[in-house]
Amino acid sequence: MNDLNNIPTNKENLDKYEVDNIYHSWGYQSQNSPMRVVGAKGLRFTTEDGRERLDFSSCFVSHNIGHQDQRVIDAICRQAQKLTSFAPSFSTEPRAVLGKILEEVTPGDLSYSFISLGGTEANEAAIKIAQQYTGKRKILGRYRSYHGGTGASMSVSCGDPRSWAVVSGKTEVVPVPQPYVYRWPFSDNPTEVAEQCIKCTEQIIQFEGGDEQIAAIIFEPITGANGIIVPPDEYFPRLRELCDKYGILMIADEVMTGFGRTGKWFAMDHWNTVPDIMSMAKGITSGYVPMGNTITTKKIGKYFQEQMFSHGATYAGHALGCAAAAEVIKIYQTDNLIENSAVMGEYLLEKSKELMEKHPVIGDVRGKGLFVGLELVKNRTTKEPLIPLDAKIRKGMNPKLELAKRLGELGMMAMAANPSNVVALAPALIATKADIDEGISIMDEALKSIDHYAEQN
Ligand SMILES: Cc1ncc(COP(=O)(O)O)c(C=O)c1O
Repeated sequence: MNDLNNIPTNKENLDKYEVDNIYHSWGYQSQNSPMRVVGAKGLRFTTEDGRERLDFSSCFVSHNIGHQDQRVIDAICRQAQKLTSFAPSFSTEPRAVLGKILEEVTPGDLSYSFISLGGTEANEAAIKIAQQYTGKRKILGRYRSYHGGTGASMSVSCGDPRSWAVVSGKTEVVPVPQPYVYRWPFSDNPTEVAEQCIKCTEQIIQFEGGDEQIAAIIFEPITGANGIIVPPDEYFPRLRELCDKYGILMIADEVMTGFGRTGKWFAMDHWNTVPDIMSMAKGITSGYVPMGNTITTKKIGKYFQEQMFSHGATYAGHALGCAAAAEVIKIYQTDNLIENSAVMGEYLLEKSKELMEKHPVIGDVRGKGLFVGLELVKNRTTKEPLIPLDAKIRKGMNPKLELAKRLGELGMMAMAANPSNVVALAPALIATKADIDEGISIMDEALKSIDHYAEQN
């Protein structure tokens, strides 16, 4: 064994460790040569070559308040000096306070939280809670969803090619459609799409044993990695009625959409629809410390007063995470970041629509708040997708990865390598008009490199 105090850390060595010792997410390991980041502030980050770059993705839609906010760093340090963490069977002040804050900011009577370490864990807990509470096993998942990389959350990520990998002990999942207006086969009228989608979902519920078999439906209120899909306004109120009719719990996965991303505290607030369980992560601490959370209604919470709550984790409610989350959530309120997301989101959408006028490779632009997607097509009339569904899991280049590479050369990170045909634009909620102009102008330049894939109509 080498002397661990003298591990060489020059550039060549670090590059080698990165390749020889680290698994990188979702990819062929031989294709990895990641840039090394040495610092970040606000919407910018600096790579080892000294170049400052624009983060137009908030690090996969997590760093909502921007990088390295001193107030959060101080809160983490203060907590670290007092108590870094303790066994979850004891109370700590930061966990108790965070529980109360989460009750304040979430809709309806969502109030009991199980605090974990990330989005996938939050969904694992949500699914277990729903199954234990209802005594039923089946979970409805919607096509074109991503809920996380572990067992149950990966199983309910229906239609995301990453879920095709072997996952042991798969959850009993029943896929249902989601109302994706741009690609709905039977209508392009949002009201009709919502109604047809609900009718189709109801038939599936009946075939699958309805109120005897189905515990819950899990969904992203606005689908993220699979395409920034905004539902018609009628959909969620109608889905709530359907769930109540069949005794099915609604699990809203707000891991990406929560904490102001869509211009409201939570995306479900757009439709005044309260789920029974809500999962969250990313924006809860803005990525400063890993954290996920699963919050349930009072009714579900009361059930577990006298029934075994059969879930747990060593780091549930970790003190550093809770201190960071409380500070971050206060910042959303004091700095009016939810309002800024709504206002700047309108501007981002408008500017993105202007991009569509210039670039034939864009077939649709949609979004809410600072969560906007550009859907890429080969042909606007036929809507033929630019890349096939399974491109994400195939080796080698594709036009979307070319775009991601070009963005990197131009000094910007956007979510261009996700499995869908959509590039997501999601700058931190502190973004100004000038930041948005800069990001749009870089995107404009980068899109020129793939415009030739579009057939002229
Ligand atoms: C909607 C949604 N749910 C769950 C997850 C999983 O979260 P994590 O990567 O923190 O496990 C993600 C991650 O991108 C997500 O977008």
